[in-house]
Amino acid sequence: MKAMTYRGPYKIRVENKPDPRIEHPHDAIVRVTLAAICGSDLHLYHGMMPDTRIGHTFGHEFVGVVERLGGAVTNLKVGDRVMVPFNIFCGRCFFCARGLFSNCHNVNANATAVGGIYGYSHTAGGYDGGQAELVRVPFADVGPTVIPDWMSDEDALLLTDAYSTGYFGAQLGEIAEGETVVVLGAGPVGLAAAQSAWLMGAGRVISIDHLDYRLAKAREFAHAETVNISEHRDVVVQMKRMTDHLGADVVIDAVGAEADGNVTQHVTSAKLKLQGGSPVALNWAIDGARKGGRVSVIGAYGPLFSAVKFGDALNKGLTLRMNQAPVKRQWPRLFEHIRAGYISPRDLITHRVPLDHIAEGYHMFSSKLDDCIKTVVVPSEG
Ligand SMILES: NC(=O)c1ccc[n+]([C@@H]2O[C@H](COP(=O)([O-])OP(=O)(O)OC[C@H]3O[C@@H](n4cnc5c(N)ncnc54)[C@H](O)[C@@H]3O)[C@@H](O)[C@H]2O)c1
Ligand SMILES: [Zn+2]
Ligand SMILES: [Zn+2]
Repeated sequence: MKAMTYRGPYKIRVENKPDPRIEHPHDAIVRVTLAAICGSDLHLYHGMMPDTRIGHTFGHEFVGVVERLGGAVTNLKVGDRVMVPFNIFCGRCFFCARGLFSNCHNVNANATAVGGIYGYSHTAGGYDGGQAELVRVPFADVGPTVIPDWMSDEDALLLTDAYSTGYFGAQLGEIAEGETVVVLGAGPVGLAAAQSAWLMGAGRVISIDHLDYRLAKAREFAHAETVNISEHRDVVVQMKRMTDHLGADVVIDAVGAEADGNVTQHVTSAKLKLQGGSPVALNWAIDGARKGGRVSVIGAYGPLFSAVKFGDALNKGLTLRMNQAPVKRQWPRLFEHIRAGYISPRDLITHRVPLDHIAEGYHMFSSKLDDCIKTVVVPSEG
């Protein structure tokens, strides 16, 4: 089969790899019909994630058709159109029993640090991902869901990660009616978080980024007020100005460890590797939230230490909540919202590229060219 493969930082290509096989009775092999490139893939692409091995296939956001099934999978059949959550989880362990699907204890040798994720380096289990013609889906009786007839592949695709993650970010903010929510980052995840904040009763939603075209999308897609970082000497001061000088009730970090905006943080993380990432957005969230407010972190941070302003969070009495999104938990409600026409996750998609051209897709998304927001990869016919 054809698959995207990692060759080192900023280098990927499409190669022929052996077709994945059923390795366990609970496996399925899925023929991918659509995959997406996620902001999290950029951390891998930039060489930021430990133990990203040459030859690894990325891709944790995908939908497809069941091609083969292990003998123990009884709730799917060959030919089913399925959406596959980005987390791999067993459904049976202590954590799965509590709905903590992204924290499953049975899918990663490194499970005390992070759960299992498709195509997300050996730090997250070493599973090959879905930016390929075929993918092995472990615990196929637990994760994948048959896509309802009325739902498009593109909406389903966005629920396997980006949209559900944004929605989860808003949930973690525990938004009370009328509250002011600031969302840092207007990528697909931040845009979904901003839109979801309204669904949870927000009174104001403010999106912050430094890319004008994404802020335009935040106004159109999420009806948010917007702030362009580059127009303010100190974006935290601007957040305070907009919130009676108290700070926002809720701030959502939808940026993660590769945030721009602070040279020292950038040099100590990306260049000197003295910390695992640049927590600029997280520190802005801590500074921009009001005392007693909430900070929700869905932007990705790796397992290594980062210089977070923890003392300020403590002294302000903030509640910090965070996780990799256990996306399947969000699906029942999001299905209802799509069906009712309240949301249309597929409107985030700006580019569709064939798998053969995936390297250009990565370059465009990474460099934010051509007003790119969300790129979808279409594998060629098998
Ligand atoms: N927790 C999870 O389960 C989960 C799931 C999916 C994605 N993620 C993470 O969410 C983050 C966003 O993903 P995405 O697909 O939207 O990525 P993206 O790269 O498209 O978007 C990130 C946005 O943040 C902006 N930005 C950079 N520095 C900023 C700063 N200091 N303040 C405000 N905005 C800033 C960028 O301009 C960009 O528009 C990534 O870190 C990704 O790894 C986490
Ligand atoms: Zn992702
Ligand atoms: Zn589990």
